[in-house]
Amino acid sequence: MRYITIALAKGRLAHSTLEILEKVGVTCEEIKDKSSRRLIFTNEERKLKFFLAKASDIPTYVEYGAADIGVVGKDTILEEGRKMYEVLDLGLGKCRMCVAGPASAKELLQHGELIRVATKYPNIAKDYFYNKKHQTVEIIKLNGSIELAPIVGLSEVIVDIVETGSTLRENGLVVLEEIIDLSARMVVNEVSMKMEHERINKMITDLKAILYKQK
Ligand code: PRP
Repeated sequence: MRYITIALAKGRLAHSTLEILEKVGVTCEEIKDKSSRRLIFTNEERKLKFFLAKASDIPTYVEYGAADIGVVGKDTILEEGRKMYEVLDLGLGKCRMCVAGPASAKELLQHGELIRVATKYPNIAKDYFYNKKHQTVEIIKLNGSIELAPIVGLSEVIVDIVETGSTLRENGLVVLEEIIDLSARMVVNEVSMKMEHERINKMITDLKAILYKQK
């Protein structure tokens, strides 16, 4: 039996993903050791390998088959636009991708003005403004603390993730438009899905049983 390799996004999501996977017997004790600097972990008994990677790299590993399975946010899936199957919504890390800014920017969006949009997600922002709203905008790519942009005058609005809304609130910004609901999804390499259909399908079915039972 060959190993099935599972790529998890480093950070908040990894811990809760592992908890859910554990419930269906997809386990890895070694990965829980926070002091370890190892990058890849093995469950010999079940022929599983796990690795942690930067969220934005997970779709790349999965498309190329370096990981058979990945767990990553819908935001990253949309932004990276890689070829792979999205098979399951794990319902973790629920949040929304929004256009946000000062309340006064609402008008600029309604009148389709040429505005600047700061974001960590240029592809999502482009798709939303160009293909859905048919509004020409200038997209400015940032790497973090996106909420700063409209405050310091870099852009009129931002496209960013809103979870509790407190970052916006504490900075005098509001949600102006909602783009899409986000959560963690399981993705599968297209070839692996065929070659390892039985094992991967069982994993998905078992996970569905757990997830639906919770609801
Ligand atoms: C994310 C997002 C928002 C914030 C939203 O940032 O980009 O800034 O969380 O959460 P809230 O609605 O609960 O306040 P993150 O912490 O990932 O940091 P970064 O974008 O600055 O890298």
